Amino acid sequence: MPLDFNLYMEGKYVYERNCIVCHGQRGDGNGELSPTLKPKPRSFREGMFKFRTTPYGMLPTDADLRRTITGGLSGTAMGIFSHLQKDEIDAVIGYLKSFSRRWKKPENYATALTFSPPPEWLEGAAEVAAHAQAGQKLFAVNCAACHGEKADGKGQAAISLKDIWGMPAAPADLRQPHLRCGDTPADLFRVLATGLNGTPMVSFTATLSEEQRWDIIAYILSVRLPPVPVL
Ligand code: HEC
Ligand code: HEC
Repeated sequence: MPLDFNLYMEGKYVYERNCIVCHGQRGDGNGELSPTLKPKPRSFREGMFKFRTTPYGMLPTDADLRRTITGGLSGTAMGIFSHLQKDEIDAVIGYLKSFSRRWKKPENYATALTFSPPPEWLEGAAEVAAHAQAGQKLFAVNCAACHGEKADGKGQAAISLKDIWGMPAAPADLRQPHLRCGDTPADLFRVLATGLNGTPMVSFTATLSEEQRWDIIAYILSVRLPPVPVL
């Protein structure tokens, strides 16, 4: 859909004031601050976004982009833009779509996946522990090569992984109390369904049943480190 000219200009203004230092004038991720940052600010030119509710490979929904912009990505330079008004966020979302031609093709769009609610056993510590045991075995087979047996991000394959932007793709240390995708079991479940576009973290909907994915999530919860106290 062609963007209304005024909205485009408003989006450009919001972008230049808030985003350009990292994401760059051409949206290629090469802003002024970029050389010092790890992970690098995203290039918007490929139209590939990691954190979505849509199937692997598809474009994110506007709500997905809004969640990233208002919630930030924990542990990265992508902060929380809570001072922006709703219409400013809508405008900057429109503007960042102008950087990639993938947004022009209807076949790249998809609606958000819907998920069944987390299982009730997640409420009970003893049950979670039992499911975590099953999950640990599944994790060893399906995840440990990259994320390591202990989920610390130090799997054998970890150092050789690259993303489509040509950067090393470090498997997340899943013990961290705050992940970029969010902290709740539902956030983990979503990532296992959607995968992270542009990275070796693919979707597991075809390889693992829902029950198996929840068992793996119970294992991840069981190795999670306590939050760092705020002094
Ligand atoms: C201080 C640097 C910095 C600023 C300023 C910044 N970002 Fe980011 N942004 C990042 C980094 C770093 C990433 C990549 C994180 C990653 O790959 O895990 C990112 C990623 C993103 C993503 C991709 C999320 C995904 O699902 O892959 C979007 C969208 C985004 N930023 C939008 C914005 C918008 C809009 C603004 C301005 C309102 C902005 N950013 C300002 C550093 C920044
Ligand atoms: C081929 C290697 C590989 C395998 C196998 C793999 N992952 Fe990943 N995973 C990655 C990489 C790399 C990232 C980080 C991608 C990035 O942001 O660049 C990641 C990211 C994640 C994230 C997001 C963390 C965050 O910061 O939000 C979760 C959750 C996750 N993986 C869970 C799993 C689970 C559970 C399994 C097994 C079912 C698994 N992964 C299998 C490579 C892998």
